[in-house]
Amino acid sequence: MAESDEQYDALGAVYERAKHIPTGLAERATLLSAVGDVRGRSVLDVACGTGFYPRLFHDLGATRIVGVDSAGEMVGYARYVEDREPRGITYAQHDATNLPVLGEFDVVTAVWLLGYADDVRALDVMIDNLTANLAPGGRIVVVVPNPDGDWDLFAQYGRYGYEITRTGPMDVKQPVCVHVLGDPPFDFDSFFWERGVFDEALRRAGLADVTRHPVVLPDDDRGAEFWEPLRTSPSFAVFSAARGES
Ligand SMILES: C[S@@+](CC[C@H](N)C(=O)[O-])C[C@H]1O[C@@H](n2cnc3c(N)ncnc32)[C@H](O)[C@@H]1O
Repeated sequence: MAESDEQYDALGAVYERAKHIPTGLAERATLLSAVGDVRGRSVLDVACGTGFYPRLFHDLGATRIVGVDSAGEMVGYARYVEDREPRGITYAQHDATNLPVLGEFDVVTAVWLLGYADDVRALDVMIDNLTANLAPGGRIVVVVPNPDGDWDLFAQYGRYGYEITRTGPMDVKQPVCVHVLGDPPFDFDSFFWERGVFDEALRRAGLADVTRHPVVLPDDDRGAEFWEPLRTSPSFAVFSAARGES
């Protein structure tokens, strides 16, 4: 059933707020630095949510952009924005664990996807499916919950617009609730996996040049003291890896 415009406007206003709070700005700056110049490139964004990053990649010059997400509501919202402001982005509903080959893309991104894998086996399946969509020489860039964050510093994250609370015992992954402050506040679940899991999984998929990218802070006037907990202990980690040329 189609959602109404009012429902979609409300959904986008809530979810996309997380992209404009300080952690979202640092996430974006770090991701874009890792992705590099997308002008003239094709990009597949898996777990695209509301289409925030597909739209950004378009606006930065990417030429063929596909966004997929397992949630019909998210794909519906992304298409709703595409209908209102056409950019030529294609959206489809797919679960990353069953993602078909949609083409050969220069860049495949997955922002906040891999942390939701059920276990290491499912993580491998997701990464294999992302890799199968890469052109020879193409790159995967993923944003995941930081596997070596400092929980004392996470406790200071209210200044960045959200709070992270552990909701269960650590067992390969630490379940948390992320509470985004503001009006209206909203919560989502996330999982902080143990150190080494993501880089090792990218290597197991046969990818080369597995790299963790340093945090890039937004160029604003909030000053070094404000950003220090996030600089030292970001809530996110950005990895990239490349497929061989053959
Ligand atoms: C925190 S949101 C991030 C959305 C978007 N990447 C962004 O950064 O704005 C996580 C997204 O992952 C999607 N997701 C979770 N598990 C997935 C799966 N197995 N396959 C595809 N998408 C998935 C959810 O539906 C949700 O849209």
